[in-house]
Amino acid sequence: MTAGPELVVLVGPAGAGKSTWAAARYRTSQVVSLGALREVVADDENDQDATADAVALLLAIVDARLSRQLTTVVDATNGVAAERAELLAIAARHQMPAIAVVIDTTLDRCLDRQRQRPGPLPGRRWGRAVPDSVVRNQHQRTVASLDTLTAEGFVQVRRVD
Ligand SMILES: Nc1ncnc2c1ncn2[C@@H]1O[C@H](COP(=O)(O)OP(=O)(O)O)[C@@H](O)[C@H]1O
Ligand SMILES: [Mg+2]
Repeated sequence: MTAGPELVVLVGPAGAGKSTWAAARYRTSQVVSLGALREVVADDENDQDATADAVALLLAIVDARLSRQLTTVVDATNGVAAERAELLAIAARHQMPAIAVVIDTTLDRCLDRQRQRPGPLPGRRWGRAVPDSVVRNQHQRTVASLDTLTAEGFVQVRRVD
């Protein structure tokens, strides 16, 4: 953590423990969750078709909070540098430091946790479980991000395992 208010960008695959990590350390209002915003727009936190709408809301909320210099945690997989760049640009615009917290849980543990989650509810296309192939991809990106986050502009990179 830095001394004052900051943007905290979580990085980690589904099932890594991002939401749990954030809930243990921050107030509910400080955590902006992409899954919760999918729920807001689509009644389903896993509806991947709702991602674009949910991301638009997420960026607007992050912008509104950082304009007030409020510590804000972005709870999403954040595995792609281009996605992180949008968050870094908002932080820079408001002169707020951005730190990355990489939740580096083993792939096997992430896969196990997803396999224990239920499938889709009746009438829903998406279940609570993210497919193995997606988790593998997200995990690979998480590990790769450890090499690039500092160069991207994060003032601090923390690795949590
Ligand atoms: N530090 C931890 N130790 C043990 N279990 C954990 C830990 N963090 C998370 N979990 C469990 O792992 C599962 C996924 O955690 P969650 O925070 O929802 O992950 P994410 O938000 O990254 O998808 C949950 O069942 C949670 O209880
Ligand atoms: Mg979560």
